[in-house]
Amino acid sequence: MTGARDVKQVPFAADAIRDEVVHHGVAVVRNTPISAQDFIAFLRGFGELMFTAGETPVQGSEDSNLVTNVGRTAPPKSVFHSDTTYVSRPPSITGLMAVDVPQKGGATLFRDQYSAYDLLSLEDKSLFEGAEILHGVSGIEPTEGSETECWHPLVRTHLETGRKSLFLTTPARCVALRLCDGEDASDRIADLYEMSIARATSSMNIWSAWDLLFWDKRCTMHAADHSAVIGDRTLYRGMVQGEAPVGARCDV
Ligand SMILES: [Fe+2]
Repeated sequence: MTGARDVKQVPFAADAIRDEVVHHGVAVVRNTPISAQDFIAFLRGFGELMFTAGETPVQGSEDSNLVTNVGRTAPPKSVFHSDTTYVSRPPSITGLMAVDVPQKGGATLFRDQYSAYDLLSLEDKSLFEGAEILHGVSGIEPTEGSETECWHPLVRTHLETGRKSLFLTTPARCVALRLCDGEDASDRIADLYEMSIARATSSMNIWSAWDLLFWDKRCTMHAADHSAVIGDRTLYRGMVQGEAPVGARCDV
């Protein structure tokens, strides 16, 4: 990706990781050989973990799920998104642990959604204050009884930094956009998404053995670059349960 900075490297310390991800979205810890169980135990220090219904758990570490290209006949598809936004309390901090790193390709890409909000015109900032998006599930089979859709503020205030960001995911999962006055503005979803991909501050992690990658899903979108991967790419993922997203309230 052109113009994307490398993700900042931080020490393997919870305070340093949390500080970097809440303010700048993403942080990487290099060359840290730990077990899947220890990785998940460390992640639990950031809060209660959650597991997305329909994902494949890691054997022996059932709070984490498997992300891999092994056994696939075609490269996985990945577009910029934030995960599991269709539930009332979407994940906050996520961790990915390198298991098998490909010889080439397979970077994880990020778009900073604080900067996406800052890019809105003053008119749009006013228009979208208090607006909500209906997030819906797609692409996986949720288990019976699990949540499949939820309204969340488009302009989200981060509880730890107090900063505003756009809270979007792939348009396939953004079912509707409703303004404060009740007007439907769903036709703006694609534009908002494209703007936030094309113009927001970007960063990327080119995977090395024993990398631990952490990011804040409340203020970033991410994607995997599967375009020219050579070799096995296997990662273990754990997610911390976040709070119900907070935004401006509409005067009614
Ligand atoms: Fe994801």
